[in-house]
Amino acid sequence: MSLPLSKYVWFDGKFVSLDKAKVPITTHAIHYGTSIFEGIRAYWNKKNLFVFRLEEHVKRFRRSGQFYNISLNYSDKKITDSIIGICKKNKIKKSCYIRPFYFIGDYGINLHVTEKAPTSVAIFSFPFGDLFNKNGITAGISSWRKFSDMSTPPQAKMGGNYLNSIIATQEAKRNGFDEAILLDHNGNVSEAPGENIFIVRDGQLITPTLSSSALEGITRDAIIKVGRDLDIEVFEKDVTRSELSSADEVFLTGTAAEITPIISMDGKKFGNGKPGNLTKKMMEEYTAIVMNENDDYSHWLTAVY
Ligand SMILES: Cc1ncc(COP(=O)(O)O)c(C=O)c1O
Repeated sequence: MSLPLSKYVWFDGKFVSLDKAKVPITTHAIHYGTSIFEGIRAYWNKKNLFVFRLEEHVKRFRRSGQFYNISLNYSDKKITDSIIGICKKNKIKKSCYIRPFYFIGDYGINLHVTEKAPTSVAIFSFPFGDLFNKNGITAGISSWRKFSDMSTPPQAKMGGNYLNSIIATQEAKRNGFDEAILLDHNGNVSEAPGENIFIVRDGQLITPTLSSSALEGITRDAIIKVGRDLDIEVFEKDVTRSELSSADEVFLTGTAAEITPIISMDGKKFGNGKPGNLTKKMMEEYTAIVMNENDDYSHWLTAVY
């Protein structure tokens, strides 16, 4: 599947056409997964293009590399300006996905990665609608466990980490489900391959803690804050498999998935097998926020034009 990428990409400080952004086969990241990435959405509301929570994404972008002393040789301001710049340069007037990433270049077969390892940075974008069916998707518990802080840092959004997501997704698809749910090393619920998970029980919103190896998702954080602002009780706590399977409603959160209802797990329906009321409420709130229709959260949006 090749993406309908916008004509210009940003590569090591310059806007170049897509066909000029190439890397050699000796690139360390291809061999060892030493790449860091972010996934960001920008929303077109017919008046302007708004990048959602840009500051938080840029902060996590740098922090991910710091776990491994991988250098991001551009300031936060330069990265921020270049993300906005890629939208402007491509004259984007459609909702889109933006992918900034950096990676270790020619560093031989050296596993002793230090801040001196050479890195490149690139940003591309493409028009993007729904990742999943917003009427709800099916999920299956993966037999693969989410990797934990006992092996590699789950908070580092790095290429190599996503092999765990890939193998869980393959299994879920083979079993006929739309998405996988991974348990952590203790058997509690962690997250989906590229999304955080929330359950609804008796009107409360519950999501696994970061100690269950869940990524500190920016959409997760938005839902926690919006939920509390709506006077909904929100808990970050250990979530057992049986709490998940007996939940009233379940939904996923993520930049790509936005808010996606899960309507069944391992073939067993949640509620009546349709998106629940609180899930629908959070979906509506999210849409209003990203479309700049809720002034209380306009500080989460960066206008491109
Ligand atoms: C493993 C994983 N969990 C959760 C998320 C959701 O995070 P965010 O809401 O910041 O996109 C992502 C996506 O970035 C992810 O890759």
